[in-house]
Amino acid sequence: MTLDIAVERTPTSRIGQVDFDNIQFGRIFSDHQYLVDFDGENWVNPRVVPYGKIAMSPAISAIHYGQAIFEGMKAYKDTEGNPQLFRPLENWKRLNRSAHRMGMQEIPEEFFMEGIRALLDIDKDWIPTTEGSSLYLRPFMFATDDYIGVRPSNTYTFAIFSCPVNAYYSQPLRVKAESHYIRAAEGGVGAAKCAGNYGSVMMPAKLAQKEGFHQVLWLDAREHKFIEETGTTNMFVRIGDTLLTPSLDRHTILAGITRDSILKLAAHWGWKIEERDVNIDEVFEAYRNGTLKEIFASGTAATVAQVELIHYEGEEIQLGGLDSWEWYHKLSNTMREIKTGKTEDIFNWIYKL
Ligand SMILES: Cc1ncc(COP(=O)(O)O)c(C=O)c1O
Repeated sequence: MTLDIAVERTPTSRIGQVDFDNIQFGRIFSDHQYLVDFDGENWVNPRVVPYGKIAMSPAISAIHYGQAIFEGMKAYKDTEGNPQLFRPLENWKRLNRSAHRMGMQEIPEEFFMEGIRALLDIDKDWIPTTEGSSLYLRPFMFATDDYIGVRPSNTYTFAIFSCPVNAYYSQPLRVKAESHYIRAAEGGVGAAKCAGNYGSVMMPAKLAQKEGFHQVLWLDAREHKFIEETGTTNMFVRIGDTLLTPSLDRHTILAGITRDSILKLAAHWGWKIEERDVNIDEVFEAYRNGTLKEIFASGTAATVAQVELIHYEGEEIQLGGLDSWEWYHKLSNTMREIKTGKTEDIFNWIYKL
């Protein structure tokens, strides 16, 4: 099915004002946005309009009761200059899992994918082409009933806007394993990409930053022992020749698309993988006995980022020799080469628009 998407072009593009060599992350928005509404029965009125404010009632339930979910993905240009995406259907599926958990309306594939297509068709010149840069896409959905009774909204808006972003130079991360505050508990919404998961960790993240750490490393809510994820990335630990990552079974962490891609590559190369509970004591023990080789974080922003330090209850793991981290470098290079077409895309991850 091809949707009939109404397009209203901006009379004056802002692209000429953008210094693409010095893009301020997350502050520059492309000329247009895509919107579509759920009216209680159907998704209606898909449209591309100039980027700008969205009128809303102050009573909408998203801002009071938090029915708000989002995704994050990147568009690149291929060698012929055509827009391409990395595994976008996984973002669509995850958005719908988040919608389901939050009692929100799921969105059909065509309203998601055709919206991206229409937006990139009109704003493709906003996809930067310097090595490592991309156009970050932010699909999101929020509840729009103007009714302050506490119940699931009947109406929703789904929208997408985009921001050009430069290559992400990730410095090695220093993280604080948090043993007081928690991010998610079993049975809760940790696996959903809902706004509340990000709001609730702002305060502990601020405290950790004041203490000199980049990120909080979240531990399980019950025992404060099992590694979960940081606020924006999944976690991997290499002990000896085994790659460990927390399993998704507890439903407390986000099923990262980068995480899944790393696991598929690692399996393809025959690496030993264990998706299971990863006890922080086990990681400290491996550090003490010399078998802890690498720790890295994964997510759309950085793809893979080295973690050089973990602080946990007064003790620290501090890893050196970052240049020689064989598995990190192999993963990060391969992911980059797949996205830029320099390595064969054996899993069909690249989606050409
Ligand atoms: C809490 C959390 N965990 C993990 C990730 C990594 O997910 P992905 O690899 O799909 O970007 C993200 C980023 O989306 C996140 O917000």
